[in-house]
Amino acid sequence: MAERVRVMLTENEVNARIKAIGEQISRDYEGRQVHLVCVLKGGSFFMCELAKNITVPVSLDFMSVSSYGGDTKSSGVVKIVKDLDDPLKDKDVIVVEDIVDSGRTLSYLLELLGQRGPKSLRLCTLLDKPDRRVVDVKVDYTGFEIPDEFVVGYGLDYDQRYRNLPYIGVVEFDEN
Ligand code: IMP
Ligand code: MG
Repeated sequence: MAERVRVMLTENEVNARIKAIGEQISRDYEGRQVHLVCVLKGGSFFMCELAKNITVPVSLDFMSVSSYGGDTKSSGVVKIVKDLDDPLKDKDVIVVEDIVDSGRTLSYLLELLGQRGPKSLRLCTLLDKPDRRVVDVKVDYTGFEIPDEFVVGYGLDYDQRYRNLPYIGVVEFDEN
């Protein structure tokens, strides 16, 4: 089966929206420093572009999580594969994610990071699929709300591929 990618959001649309979020964050955090926490791997492309558009001082850190298999998966319990390098204590933290889907991963992660004593903790996601939400998550900054379709590009993968597309697309399969 051949695969094609249908464009949902062009590179220009995505970058323009990220610029606007960066400007918003710069206004909201005026006089402060923001500590961006990227959830690997999906959030990495978004975080880099976002960071370039923030004018207040920025520091960065990365973490990698994976869902536990089996029964616990539905509870949203995630395993930390790579933890942050630095403490969050007294920092103004923004968690940067590629997409909020069921909300399970983020709700667990925000709870966990909240216990580390940040001065503030917010969530910024490039994409949001509100129709798929199972667990309530408060999203502070959203790039785009999208319909319930499986998307790739700008960090998002299908079987580890397509992360490098500079736009957001939907994978389609040809019959022959
Ligand atoms: P959830 O919100 O806990 O369901 O999980 C969100 C995670 O699932 C994201 O961080 C992505 O890694 C992955 N995911 C959800 N929807 C998509 C999609 O449409 N394309 C690619 N990955 C997705
Ligand atoms: Mg992710």
